[in-house]
Amino acid sequence: MLKVSDLYAETGGKEILKGINLEVKAGEVHAIMGPNGSGKSTLSMVLAGNPAYTVTRGTATFMGKDLLAMPPETRSHEGLFLGFQYPVEIPGVSMMNFMRAAVTEKRKFLGLPPMSATDFLKLMREKRSIVELDSKLASRSVNEGFSGGEKKRNEIFQMAVLEPRLSILDETDSGLDVDALRIVADGVNKLKSADNATIVITHYQRLLDYLQPQVIHILYKGRIIRTDGPELAAFIEKNGFDPIIRDAEKEGAV
Ligand SMILES: Nc1ncnc2c1ncn2[C@@H]1O[C@H](COP(=O)(O)OP(=O)(O)O)[C@@H](O)[C@H]1O
Ligand SMILES: [Mg+2]
Repeated sequence: MLKVSDLYAETGGKEILKGINLEVKAGEVHAIMGPNGSGKSTLSMVLAGNPAYTVTRGTATFMGKDLLAMPPETRSHEGLFLGFQYPVEIPGVSMMNFMRAAVTEKRKFLGLPPMSATDFLKLMREKRSIVELDSKLASRSVNEGFSGGEKKRNEIFQMAVLEPRLSILDETDSGLDVDALRIVADGVNKLKSADNATIVITHYQRLLDYLQPQVIHILYKGRIIRTDGPELAAFIEKNGFDPIIRDAEKEGAV
């Protein structure tokens, strides 16, 4: 589904990603962990096509197509979803209208006509129930005055409506409370299928306990210094990143 090879990227004249290799297949959940400042958010930004970042070397294909050649909206229409660490507020635009526009754009891309109002409302109801999103929330402006937990719920709701092939969820540092973690985890688990995949960027062992990723990557100084199964998360929970970083340094990998 996603294949990243030898990816280098910079922002503000600073090289941040230094040769990322990553392959994610349909049906998989991957976790990316690593100390602050390693480049985890940068990687998700680069994959989503944030223009503030420049790819200087390497390739990324998504469903066999050149991801890096696509404008951000095409990446989204092709089925890439990036959950924002800090969701934007859009005052004056109701969730319903926002989602309507997003669904219409995606359908246009797929050569489909806009949904009828009835079908759209049905879709909203069905998806809202997946994340137990209050109908009142859906009629409010996008993220305006939402609590952290509500924003999270809203993000997973958007994901449920758009049915992405690959979701990248950056759940970094910003104090997610226990409820928000559960919302993310439940939503992702409900939406999981043999045809889609998730990359979750997280510090939270608890989130990994809920999501049970098959593959864990450790990112450090712009490189993936270790990839392993779930036991790697348990090891880090116990020992921290230091032993793995020391090994990588010994091998001359960083
Ligand atoms: N816009 C920017 N300009 C310059 N440096 C940046 C910018 N964004 C991020 N960085 C730097 O890139 C490095 C990686 O950041 P980031 O991807 O946010 O790491 P992580 O998500 O792993 O904590 C950090 O050293 C950070 O200071
Ligand atoms: Mg980050």
